[in-house]
Amino acid sequence: MKTVLVTGGAGYIGSHACKALKAAGYTPVTFDNLCTGWQDAVKFGPFEQGDLRDRARVDEVFDKYDPVAVMHFAALSQVGESMEKPGIYWDNNVGGSLALIESAAAHGCKNFVFSSTCATYGDQDNVVLDEDCVQRPINSYGASKRAIEDILANFEAAYGLKHVIFRYFNVAGADRDAEVGEFHQPETHLIPLILDAIAGKRDALTIFGTDYDTPDGTCIRDYVHVCDLVDAHVLGLKWLLEGKGSWVFNLGTGTGFSVREVMDQSKVATNREVPFNTGPRRAGDATKLVSGSTRAAAELGWKPLRSTLPIMIKDAWRWHQTGHYDK
Ligand code: UFG
Repeated sequence: MKTVLVTGGAGYIGSHACKALKAAGYTPVTFDNLCTGWQDAVKFGPFEQGDLRDRARVDEVFDKYDPVAVMHFAALSQVGESMEKPGIYWDNNVGGSLALIESAAAHGCKNFVFSSTCATYGDQDNVVLDEDCVQRPINSYGASKRAIEDILANFEAAYGLKHVIFRYFNVAGADRDAEVGEFHQPETHLIPLILDAIAGKRDALTIFGTDYDTPDGTCIRDYVHVCDLVDAHVLGLKWLLEGKGSWVFNLGTGTGFSVREVMDQSKVATNREVPFNTGPRRAGDATKLVSGSTRAAAELGWKPLRSTLPIMIKDAWRWHQTGHYDK
């Protein structure tokens, strides 16, 4: 069975990817430092604890498993935090990725799937956000991810490292069996915070900014189901293993929803009120991020069938009521 090294496999998206990889016939080896991940989320293959900035440790794992590919999810990923502490984003995200990419190249592992983000595009009014759109990140998180995209291009030129880059829009939902799900501490993402407020685990959701230039004044995002997202990764891996070469794909649906629309849909999906208040804008937030690309569907045959708000919220709600991890 082919082995895939999954960095961040103990995290939200990485754990779903491990489940999808196992179902597709691969052995996912999780490499994670557990700084934001959960050992309990590692259910589908071996676990190796370590930090990507520790090159000797990364080399050890490549030597032990000889993976056919890397799926690189491990990263700090909070936009607000990245504005307050840019240094840790450059150190952890860029420093860790560089050690990983160098180790992959040194071990002759030439297939690399990378989680990038629509935050690399920045805030661009009236511009279609497809993969050819200029990247002008407005937060340190997006800047760190764009830098890693550049490293991958340089390593392809030097060592033939083939890569598929996925630029995610907003990932939501959970595994339909609720075996794994979204569990951040502290939580910063919109849908789990809405569900916390609904469940009385926090007093209220604070809407960050009501004066954006959008129909209801709140930010607009393109939400994609985590299970659809990881399906694209399995297709991207197949793409690389078939020798189709390096490529970039947006992963979004092309439809945007405002914060207030997500709240309204959450009320319908759970049949419960969403307690909320309003606050100032959060630093680093773009007004609107909606994918303008159909490339993943056209080239990979990707079908994001679960990426509707009712399904994403219902799956997240099911997980929210039953799931949690301990370290
Ligand atoms: N929001 C609130 N209140 C909250 C939390 C969020 O109003 O308590 C708003 C945000 O201002 C934003 C929207 O809800 O407008 C979504 O915010 P999230 O924090 O859920 O997601 P982000 O858009 O900030 O970022 C997420 C991921 C990033 C990824 C990005 C792409 O965290 O990794 O989506 O848009 F790059």
